[in-house]
Amino acid sequence: RRTRQQAWEEHQLENAVSKENIDEIYVPDSEKYEFVFDKNAMIDFTNDSDDMLDDSDAESEDSAEKEERNNLLSQLEVEEKRIKTISESRKLLPVFAYRDELMSAIKENQALIIVGETGSGKTTQLPQYLVEDGYTQGTKFQIGVTQPRRVAAMSVASRVSDEMNVILGQEVGYSIRFDDKTTANKTILKYMTDGMLLREFLIDPLLSKYACIMIDEAHERTLATDILLGLLKNIMEKRTELKLLISSATVNAKKFSKFFNDCPIFNVPGRRFPVDIHYTLQPEGNYINAAVTTVFQIHTTQSLDGDVLLFLTGQEEIENTREKIEEIALKLGNRIPQLLITPIYANLPQEQQADIFQKTPENCRKIVLATNIAETSLTIDGIKYVIDPGFVKENSYVPSTGMTQLLTVPCSRASVDQRAGRAGRVGPGKCFRLFTKHSYENDLEAMPRPEIVRTNLSNTVLLLLSLGITDLLHFPFLDKPHISTLTKSLENLYILGALNSKGQITELGKMMCEFPCEPEFAKVLHSAATHPQCNGVLDQCLSIVSMLHETTSIFVGNKKEATSHIVSDIDSDHMLYLTIYEEWRAANYSRTWCQDHRIQFKTLLRVRNIRNQLARCCDKLGLTKRNQAAIVQQAGHDNVMVGKITKSLISGFPLNVVKLTPSGYQTIGKAKGGLLVNLHPSSVIFQNQKEKGKKLDKYILYQQLMLTSKEFIRDCIPIQNEKWLFEIVPQVFNGIKGK
Ligand code: CDP
Ligand code: MG
Repeated sequence: RRTRQQAWEEHQLENAVSKENIDEIYVPDSEKYEFVFDKNAMIDFTNDSDDMLDDSDAESEDSAEKEERNNLLSQLEVEEKRIKTISESRKLLPVFAYRDELMSAIKENQALIIVGETGSGKTTQLPQYLVEDGYTQGTKFQIGVTQPRRVAAMSVASRVSDEMNVILGQEVGYSIRFDDKTTANKTILKYMTDGMLLREFLIDPLLSKYACIMIDEAHERTLATDILLGLLKNIMEKRTELKLLISSATVNAKKFSKFFNDCPIFNVPGRRFPVDIHYTLQPEGNYINAAVTTVFQIHTTQSLDGDVLLFLTGQEEIENTREKIEEIALKLGNRIPQLLITPIYANLPQEQQADIFQKTPENCRKIVLATNIAETSLTIDGIKYVIDPGFVKENSYVPSTGMTQLLTVPCSRASVDQRAGRAGRVGPGKCFRLFTKHSYENDLEAMPRPEIVRTNLSNTVLLLLSLGITDLLHFPFLDKPHISTLTKSLENLYILGALNSKGQITELGKMMCEFPCEPEFAKVLHSAATHPQCNGVLDQCLSIVSMLHETTSIFVGNKKEATSHIVSDIDSDHMLYLTIYEEWRAANYSRTWCQDHRIQFKTLLRVRNIRNQLARCCDKLGLTKRNQAAIVQQAGHDNVMVGKITKSLISGFPLNVVKLTPSGYQTIGKAKGGLLVNLHPSSVIFQNQKEKGKKLDKYILYQQLMLTSKEFIRDCIPIQNEKWLFEIVPQVFNGIKGK
């Protein structure tokens, strides 16, 4: 029997073409795929009780179930008719019925675990109850609510400010990296990413301005959430009046309770309608094509009164799938009812986020393309069909090589069950799993692995050390990270100069913590301003680092097309980003310049905002002054300057270097047996080598390593002189010296 993993691997193999035709490889499969919608070509799904094309599943139920269903439905209808205002709709949420019980449980316990169905009102309502019951004592204290994802923090804050009828950013605000929408002395309810609250420990280790902290979506077990739980456990005794709420899906509740000295678990019973689960009969090799097929299968065979939620793994996949669906819909024209396609992923620009909550117009079906953000963090009303390929993107860190890869891996059973549940909120729903029942029962892991055991811990270790927590082995971790990962982190931090040889945090290490970016980038900026071999290029490095931080695409359409307008002789992605930013700045940050050069104006505005914040941080730390002292008047991007920029980058990312070998580019660093990698075809260097026939660079520094059908490196700069490696980071490149 072919397992799903095998099917996936075969599909990857089919895609993995030899070097000669590498051009083809990054054309997403869904683009190559000519889709002809044909009823005979539909995917066969199996289901224990019924056939999806037969819409009469209600008949196969026993009458008691049916009655209960109808009861629920009519109850809901009656309730919904009563909704006139947003404040009334609050009273319809399941948590409202338990308001008093909940509030007295909170009063009696310092820590409380709250378990409830997604959409029952935990995130939006509980913090409001706390405000209503006076926990903030006017504006004296704050209520802080953490979210694993930026989009969730923003969208929930916006919803709650509506419900409370206040302007977002005043009484109710949010705080995410590079975007703080709160007002000092006024904001009492603050939604934020878990990473932001973590940073607040640096300024205020007892979190003294908070009356209550709610760690939301704790079951997601992000690294930041896990560390927060440990830090909070540490301060609970000192802050006896601090209330801690932890909201979780059922799966982890007991574990959290045990961690907080067996604190009580409050269960909010929710309403959930039954969901019919359908599986494919065969493993699907290409889940994107299967998903697109299923979208049209549902759209053309199922009644129009239910929207579709399709789970995908990331932005690129979502955008490609969206194009594919739109293209087919266009071909089918008015032979099918209209489709409204709305994407949602972590980096979706704010201006598009509200779209998913839009009410679906008449005679139209909404198709929501979401990452696992829609698994529990966001509730979209009206979903009746869920399509689940059963994959998720996960960090995977290999301590022996020090490399982090983003991998697409099968979800856990807990995740796919949660996803299926999203179909049963407004009424009975259906979930189409693009894998077999056998696979569900035998191949899937029961639970996802917490991030702390599969990610690089350098940032976390640096943060803990700067908080004075030096005994890492005895820190209360919910799940202990691997010792090898901790050791590797200490080693990394030592290489960066954040720790001294005794493992103590250095001045530079403390400085790195102040930056709202990874220590590696902070090191780049620090070197650009102060390192005797690189100083004087802080301004340029600020622009580059800010451009690298913006994760949505800078280009309108294809990068290659866009860039050919701007430059002809640029050697690296970094210098391309710098040139774009500087030209835009010279054009007075103009919108027209962006249009003329096929650059996303809004994206550059965000880059500018990031840059301003990083620059302010440099001012504060005295780096700007030190840089100015070193500046030699330079015109254009001459070689000296490019060299200095490259050296600054080496100082921050010494392990992200690949070397040309007879079999291709190979990762180096201390670990033996490097990994063979390929230049991503979108890279300027790839284009130079491939199209302009430039000679291959011996060493290249990359910013991103990704694994799709092959290992790719992205955002690359050639290292023109290999001596730089030894000069800047001798600890790593000792071996190169004599050669
Ligand atoms: O946190 P939990 O999953 O328990 O529920 P919630 O996020 O507080 O959502 C409660 C209700 O608010 C749901 O019915 C959502 O549809 C609605 N909501 C919304 O309309 N817009 C948002 N941005 C967030 C929630
Ligand atoms: Mg929630």
